[in-house]
Amino acid sequence: MSRILVAYYTRTGCTGRVATRLAEALDAQLLQIEETRSRLGPLGYMRCCYEAVRRRVPSIEPVGIDPGRFELLVIGTPIWCWHLSSPVRAFARREGRAARRVAFFCTMGGAGYTGAFDELRTLLGQEPVATLALTDAEIDNAAGTARIERFVQALRHEALPELHGKLA
Ligand SMILES: Cc1cc2nc3c(=O)[nH]c(=O)nc-3n(C[C@H](O)[C@H](O)[C@H](O)COP(=O)(O)O)c2cc1C
Repeated sequence: MSRILVAYYTRTGCTGRVATRLAEALDAQLLQIEETRSRLGPLGYMRCCYEAVRRRVPSIEPVGIDPGRFELLVIGTPIWCWHLSSPVRAFARREGRAARRVAFFCTMGGAGYTGAFDELRTLLGQEPVATLALTDAEIDNAAGTARIERFVQALRHEALPELHGKLA
């Protein structure tokens, strides 16, 4: 059974691509946070901004997994208007307090992640063991790949200390 859960929301696939790479590297269970309503099109885009900035909590599908079963919960979010994405806010509020330990990552065009990570700290009531903020350009370049690998090493060290070093 996996000891790490990677939970993420993705609207256009970037956060999802990073989440998949992390889950493969960590042998983790992957959980995609899904909504009950579509966000496609210009109106969907505007709703993203509105909900992110106004700290709204949209309806998400039941996840069916208890994060408290895992040694580490890794949460991934896109950045929306310098804020946490609202579906991840909904997940963190509903499920996050059960987590034993947490780590955060995000993808973004270029800037604005610090407030999102601060909100996650507050919602989950704990400090992350590690964080990673990647730009969209970094996701597939060498610098980004090196940063993802360092993040993976830090998470292995926290959640799987007996394996740390052997898999490096
Ligand atoms: C509504 C909206 C607002 C965004 N605001 C920001 C922002 O403030 N800063 C930034 O760097 N990128 C911003 N972006 C870009 C996304 O964070 C970035 O493309 C991210 O990787 C998308 O992740 P996804 O493909 O998993 O949905 C925004 C994107 C959307 C849709």
